[in-house]
Amino acid sequence: MLKTLYGKLALALAALLAAIGLSYGLISHSLTQRYLQEAQQSFNRDLARNLVVDQGLVTGGQLDLKALKATFMRYMTINPSIEIYLLDAQGTILAYSAEPSVVKRNRVALEPIRAFLAGAALPIFGDDPRSHDARKSFSVTPVPATEGADGYLYVVLRGQMYESFERIYQDSLLLQLSGWVLAGSLLTGLLIGLLLFHVLTRRLRRLAIRVNDFQGSDFTVYTPYQGQGVQGDEIEQLGAYFDRMAQRLRTLIAHLEERDTLRRELVNHVSHDLRTPLAALHGYLETLQLKADRLSPADQVLYLDAALRHSRRLGRLVGDLFELAKLDAHAIQPRRECFPAAELVQDIAQKYQLPAREHRIRFMVRLPAATLFVEADIGLLERVLDNLILNAFYHTPPEGIVALELRSASQTVTFAITDTGQGIAPEDLPRIFDRFYRGSSKAKDDGNHLGLGLAIAKRIVELHGSTLWVASKLHRGTQFGFDLPIRAYSAS
Ligand SMILES: Nc1ncnc2c1ncn2[C@@H]1O[C@H](COP(=O)(O)OP(=O)(O)OP(=O)(O)O)[C@@H](O)[C@H]1O
Ligand SMILES: [Mg+2]
Repeated sequence: MLKTLYGKLALALAALLAAIGLSYGLISHSLTQRYLQEAQQSFNRDLARNLVVDQGLVTGGQLDLKALKATFMRYMTINPSIEIYLLDAQGTILAYSAEPSVVKRNRVALEPIRAFLAGAALPIFGDDPRSHDARKSFSVTPVPATEGADGYLYVVLRGQMYESFERIYQDSLLLQLSGWVLAGSLLTGLLIGLLLFHVLTRRLRRLAIRVNDFQGSDFTVYTPYQGQGVQGDEIEQLGAYFDRMAQRLRTLIAHLEERDTLRRELVNHVSHDLRTPLAALHGYLETLQLKADRLSPADQVLYLDAALRHSRRLGRLVGDLFELAKLDAHAIQPRRECFPAAELVQDIAQKYQLPAREHRIRFMVRLPAATLFVEADIGLLERVLDNLILNAFYHTPPEGIVALELRSASQTVTFAITDTGQGIAPEDLPRIFDRFYRGSSKAKDDGNHLGLGLAIAKRIVELHGSTLWVASKLHRGTQFGFDLPIRAYSAS
């Protein structure tokens, strides 16, 4: 219990309230005591003077010693709460009404007496002749001496009843009442404080349970705290931050898991896609070796051609994989140079005239009037256009059209490859840039395609700070393209 925040807060509050109660008690005790002493002294202020008058202690300007003795005797028996002392001008005790055995001093200090007679504020404490160091409230009046200088009649107010707190407390209804009120309010304060701490720490406990559950579920299930958000108090902020952190953690974990699945898929794909041409290559070479003497030279050439074809295909697949891996690892940095975009497009157009004819495809090139300079890695850009054009050829039936186009806008130039081919189904569109994705119809698949072309093209375009986009209509045609900023113009 004491280990919890609630326990610690409760203990601190209880200690604080106890300290307040104690100091309040002590202060009120000393104040009350002082007040009672003051009341007692001011009530008895004229006691000494009245004694002198009432008891007729001074007759004819002289102290009547006989009357004094009689008064001493009387007060010793009937009123032991006061003690009367006769002092000379220096404060030396000449006579007194107390038992001789209890009086310990033979003189008392004069300063309090003078202050009293000068009318200083009460209470004033003077020496108590019964003790060496105690001080008591008193009443005093000057009296003429029997001989020499005048002296004082010094009356000590014993007031024993106010010396202990219990006595004061028992006597004062007001003090009792205020004590009860104090105890009551401290207790109420304690209860309210405990309730408040409970409410405050409850939210913390709730948060702790959530975080603990989250961790217990291996960071998969998190019930959001969903408080007032960062606008709330510190606990609410903590809740909001935890919500965010859990959210982020879950996305990260999901991302990692997805990566892991991808990696596994990749290994599967690679081993499968490499095994097929490798097995074919192996088969042809083995046949050549085993049946070399029985095969006609024409057959031997045929077998060798097939083996070569498969080894070339293998080389291309490995090359593509390697290139993608390097692109992923950011190991390829584009070597940018400024060149006229139309030149690159024309070079490529040249390259694909023959293959277009072989595919019986009309290959068209459209260029803008002005010469536009772009800044890019020519080799990489050519790789992108190669991939897009080969895809277009591959998916366009004979007599179709494939167009390679350069379009200029105010700041950018667009490279676009349009075909009138089979198009891409809308449900396939989001996936075509995924590596190893080869479309839903594999009927035409000759085993030559890994599904890496678009993934590579996309990474290269991104490396140039642009995006590869696609628009397609099923059975109508497809257009791929990307934009590059224009670095310079020259009209031609
Ligand atoms: N011009 C296009 N017309 C219709 N479908 C296309 C076109 N270009 C790409 N696709 C679809 O997108 C898929 C992915 O293309 P991508 O170039 O990445 O792989 P691939 O051409 O199958 O293999 P690779 O390029 O590695 O030889 C293709 O299999 C095809 O289904
Ligand atoms: Mg391709």
